[in-house]
Amino acid sequence: MEQKREQWGSRWGFILATMGSAVGLGNIWRFSYAMGEGGGSAFLIIYLLSVLLLGFPVMLIEFSIGRRSQADAVQAFKKLAPKSPWFIAGGLGVLAAFLILSFYGVIGGWSLRYTFAYLTGGITGDSSEFFSGFIGSTVSPLIWQFIFMALTIGIVFIGVQKGIELSSKWMMPILSVLVIILAAYSLTLGGTAEALDFMFKPEWSAFTDPNIYLTAMGQAFFTLSLGMGIMLTYSSYLNPDVRLTSAAAIIIVLDTVFAIISGLIIFPALFAFGLDPAEGAGLVFIVLPNIFEALGGIGTIVGLVFFILFSLAALSSAISLLEVSVSYFMRRLNMSRKAVTLIVGLVISLLGVLSSLSQGAMEITIMGDSFLDFIDGFTGNLLLPLSALITVLFVSWTWKKEDILTHTDTSGTAWSGLFIFTVKFIAPIAILVVLIIGILNW
Ligand code: PHE
Ligand code: NA
Repeated sequence: MEQKREQWGSRWGFILATMGSAVGLGNIWRFSYAMGEGGGSAFLIIYLLSVLLLGFPVMLIEFSIGRRSQADAVQAFKKLAPKSPWFIAGGLGVLAAFLILSFYGVIGGWSLRYTFAYLTGGITGDSSEFFSGFIGSTVSPLIWQFIFMALTIGIVFIGVQKGIELSSKWMMPILSVLVIILAAYSLTLGGTAEALDFMFKPEWSAFTDPNIYLTAMGQAFFTLSLGMGIMLTYSSYLNPDVRLTSAAAIIIVLDTVFAIISGLIIFPALFAFGLDPAEGAGLVFIVLPNIFEALGGIGTIVGLVFFILFSLAALSSAISLLEVSVSYFMRRLNMSRKAVTLIVGLVISLLGVLSSLSQGAMEITIMGDSFLDFIDGFTGNLLLPLSALITVLFVSWTWKKEDILTHTDTSGTAWSGLFIFTVKFIAPIAILVVLIIGILNW
């Protein structure tokens, strides 16, 4: 049963879907936090270099493998290099996407729960108690997780063009408008000077701190959804005459803009209320609700808008994670998209139950971490960099120089020499360092 491969309806459909994957929690929270902790604009410079020298080439490599092979993340390598073990890169990517979605669905569920809370009057009283009470209970977080997964499954079920592409065409413009409105409002709260200071103040000593380079490189991979077969799978639905370089450039620029504007939402508000930027989920689910409450009546609306933004960002990333597995299992099991989406989506949701329960309802730990944190650490520190490394080595070792340039649409550009040098040396070495230090720290 050889089904005709689905295709994006247009170049912009592909770009918006890819942006949907890229724009997520990494932009709304992780980026500005890393920036503030990492020496402000010193971090920004290192980050931009990481994105240019690492994110851009790796994205182009994933794109070129997908477009060239017109196949899922595993089959792509088997098609381009038959009878060789390079497909392991794709296999690790599929595994990573599968595992990440299991806990991403849990957090997506939390954000739906919070959206609902702001639809029905907001969160008053001790927000920290509200949060730990909610995530620590048994049934309620599971219901919200399953609602979130049902939305994800529903979109992927419909297909590439009418599901993923069409939903992205709605979600991305809405997201863009919402971040701008929220940032404009936040800048009126009185914490702007301090926020700009926190985000942009150059601390040149940061350049001598090796940790910052690692954070910046890790952030570049995470924020661009690299190393899990997403970009490869999405570009396998591309018509071969779409130019990859400009698409990658647009995605990268918009992702960075999104990250900076998100910082302009969170930090001015935080400083206006004299709060400290605290790390992780605590900020979004505990600190921000305090701010929304302190804003009075309008705070409920601002909170609602924020959590709609947050939920949409999570949803458009979740569908890209699911599509990687669906694309792979459609071929592996030789079954229709609809059947595979339901089965794989259900299995991932069930695995996610363990992550959800590990947040307080039950003691589910691996190597001392909660199940959720373990899966997060295992995928982020091990699977993603490993998959990215093998993918880059595949191209740099097995493709001829001219082929690399042709298939990434970089031949004839002024920087083709630099690009080859990056693909052959800078990227593999940098990813290897990230991988080793990631494993050691974890
Ligand atoms: N790129 C997304 C972000 O910046 C995160 C993400 C990772 C999305 C993995 C999908 C898969 O938040
Ligand atoms: Na991102």
